[in-house]
Amino acid sequence: MGNRTVGISETAKRPRAIRLGLIGVGTVGTGTLRVLKEHGAEIERRLGCRIELQRVCSRTIHDKDLSWFGQPIEITTDWKEVVGDPAIDIVIELVGELPTARAIAFAALDAGKHLVTANKQLVAEHGVELVERSRARRLSLGIEATVAGGTPILHAIREGLAGEHFDAVFGILNGTTNYILTEMERRGATFRTALAEAQQKGYAEPDPTFDVAGFDARYKIAILAMVCFGQAVPVKDIPTQGIQEIDQVDFAYARRLDRTVRLVGVARRQPRGRLEIFVRPLMIPRASQLASVHGPTNGIMLVGNKGGVTTLTGRGAGGEPTGVAVLSDVVEIARTLAAGGAGATPLGYAHWHPARIVSPDEDVVATYLRLVVRDRPGILARVCALLARHRINIDSVLQEPGMPQRHLPFVMTLEPTQEKRVAKAVREISRLSFLAQKPVLLRFADLP
Ligand SMILES: NC(=O)c1ccc[n+]([C@@H]2O[C@H](COP(=O)([O-])OP(=O)(O)OC[C@H]3O[C@@H](n4cnc5c(N)ncnc54)[C@H](OP(=O)(O)O)[C@@H]3O)[C@@H](O)[C@H]2O)c1
Repeated sequence: MGNRTVGISETAKRPRAIRLGLIGVGTVGTGTLRVLKEHGAEIERRLGCRIELQRVCSRTIHDKDLSWFGQPIEITTDWKEVVGDPAIDIVIELVGELPTARAIAFAALDAGKHLVTANKQLVAEHGVELVERSRARRLSLGIEATVAGGTPILHAIREGLAGEHFDAVFGILNGTTNYILTEMERRGATFRTALAEAQQKGYAEPDPTFDVAGFDARYKIAILAMVCFGQAVPVKDIPTQGIQEIDQVDFAYARRLDRTVRLVGVARRQPRGRLEIFVRPLMIPRASQLASVHGPTNGIMLVGNKGGVTTLTGRGAGGEPTGVAVLSDVVEIARTLAAGGAGATPLGYAHWHPARIVSPDEDVVATYLRLVVRDRPGILARVCALLARHRINIDSVLQEPGMPQRHLPFVMTLEPTQEKRVAKAVREISRLSFLAQKPVLLRFADLP
């Protein structure tokens, strides 16, 4: 048999067009429409079939000017019209609010539509249920935009590294808090100033609690734990600490220790199938890869058993970068349809088991303790005696010069000790009469 060139059209039966229904025209919905307008032709060349926007839904769609899209768009304020439209192949859910997003997602799957969602809360809390429902109906589910916005971390774990056994994942998963921390680090801004700037630039909401308290990162580390380890973690069980107590003085001390502070989501395998998982500010080496992730950027470090460390950094949010992730899921689904198959396994595993979470209290860790005191003789001796009573060894004591006597911060670095023992001692220290402020305790983490 002689050689001959085989064209793609001969090897796969491609659908004539993929029809989309998009629900939610806010930041990400608008970004997705813009990317579709600008990259649509290129995406179609990649796919070998047309992408048609069949219907768009938003509560206030009649007040939105979408003339820039350049094509007539069928609009509605009722998402059920999108889900029930027999012409639509893929429903894109971008409404944000969990109860509505959940209702749309399950209704879409029940109506036989493939689903793309950017909702981390939906996937973290109902991911297994969504995957099982989509699998039962041989439908695809796209969730790339739920973690790290425009940075394709989930595809990297699921496809590029599907042969790997992950030992750990460490992530800077929230752009707002990373912007605040790196501004405090870079130019000594206070938490308040850096937060106000983040709000001004549109990185932080008027009520920033969801980001600064670590809740946003908690959903994302829960999804990463599912995709990296096949373990379903109840979100409420993930110990979470925000960055509200971090002060610019912590960066001054961190620099003396050749470290910096970052809010990190950690999920790490432990012996006997257990999982360590938490979100908290950590004192990480300045030379570590995550220390060089600045501003609203996200960075995720995967530690593989064979391949070692793989790090991805990129845009963690924003309408258009997240829109790219949404449309990348559309492309993947369209390719699967062309191949005549059902969706891949969006959570990385065919089956999951409930995670057995190790209590972080049991961990033996070195810690950074910042105390702010009203200065008077004998303070150091009292604190040292109390730590000694709890059998906690002090590694060093640091004090920046020129600090006010009535509000004097100093730092102790403590040798590796079970964290619950340190926490108990710190609770006792916080009751001492000369304390001017609640003590701050941060873990040292020796990330690569
Ligand atoms: N923003 C980001 O950078 C980013 C990044 C990654 C992932 N995400 C996720 O993407 C999703 C969307 O976020 P977003 O920032 O785009 O939110 P957003 O700006 O608040 O937009 C939400 C949109 O949903 C519409 N909507 C709400 N309830 C609706 C309903 N019942 N029926 C129809 N439309 C409804 C709103 O309509 P009206 O405007 O008409 O009132 C609005 O257009 C969220 O799950 C978010 O976590 C966001």
